[in-house]
Amino acid sequence: MNNEEIKKDYLKKIKKIIKLNQSYYDKNSPLISDGEYDILKKKIIFLEKKYNFLDHKDSPSKRVGFRPSRNFKKINHKVPMLSLSNAFSEEDLINFEKKIVNYLNEETNFTIEYSAEPKIDGISASLIYKKNKLVTGLSRGDGQTGEDITDNLKTIKDIPQNIDAKDFPEEIDIRGEVFIQNSDFKKLADKFANPRNAASGSLRQKNPEDTKRIPLKFIAYTFGFGKGLKVNNQSDFLKKLSEWGFKTNHLNKIIVGTKNLMENYNQIEKKRSDIDFDIDGIVYKINDFQMQSRLGFVANAPRWAIAHKFSANSGISKILDIDIQIGR
Ligand code: IVH
Repeated sequence: MNNEEIKKDYLKKIKKIIKLNQSYYDKNSPLISDGEYDILKKKIIFLEKKYNFLDHKDSPSKRVGFRPSRNFKKINHKVPMLSLSNAFSEEDLINFEKKIVNYLNEETNFTIEYSAEPKIDGISASLIYKKNKLVTGLSRGDGQTGEDITDNLKTIKDIPQNIDAKDFPEEIDIRGEVFIQNSDFKKLADKFANPRNAASGSLRQKNPEDTKRIPLKFIAYTFGFGKGLKVNNQSDFLKKLSEWGFKTNHLNKIIVGTKNLMENYNQIEKKRSDIDFDIDGIVYKINDFQMQSRLGFVANAPRWAIAHKFSANSGISKILDIDIQIGR
């Protein structure tokens, strides 16, 4: 292929991903499976890396999610809601760790502690608390600007609206995932394509009374900004979250070494179908906050975290035609 053809093929893929994003985020209706989407995203990023003349403002390497819907007021996130880079193999994990050790200029025998958190496949939300009260709740939107879905988020029982704890920060933006349990999804399966879309659809109803009818759950896992937050690492932050009344994932673990990350990954992947919510991988975050801030960010993802995705072994098939035949 010459450069002209490579560019043509690249733009075709970009056009396709724009259409898929629109359908997924705006209409809550996926056109292909998550696995197939990831493959397309990987192909685009691979092409951009290989041919540096390829670039597009809507490339998945630049954008997170899709623009906010017209139904809700738009509010800028004080701290952007970023994406995560993906790892698919043990080799990717080894490279991830190597790059970190290199970047930090540490000895090769330096050990890194990770917070390993099963990645719930739901909708992320940002909850802004001021003086112990939930004041605003936003969707991720395009990562920079979210939708004001406060009234809808307030219908979720797992989201505390008032927090009494003495050590609760003066102002904090607590972030986590809104999702629907598979057992609850079964009752709604005729209305939505999958649990993630059921969560997204219910969360973005115009009328909060409609959201209230859907048994949405919330699990907290990070924060955007925090004024007066006194914790030094992710595992202590997760402990604080549950002391303050948030639900956290009971499968979160602290792990050292890529071999042990692999072991945990394999164990959880085996258990995947017994867990009552969809997980599409494990997120690894460097536990130490100081180390996180030394590492910082690249493009739209942190250098200190990665999502280790489970292999996509299922796709969506569309039945094009049914041919009814009468037997003897
Ligand atoms: S941390 C910059 N922790 O994964 C840090 N994200 O691709 C990014 N997710 O939008 C967020 N479980 O919707 C984080 N334990 C977890 C998570 C998690 C699921 C989702 C979240 C985010 C996406 C990143």
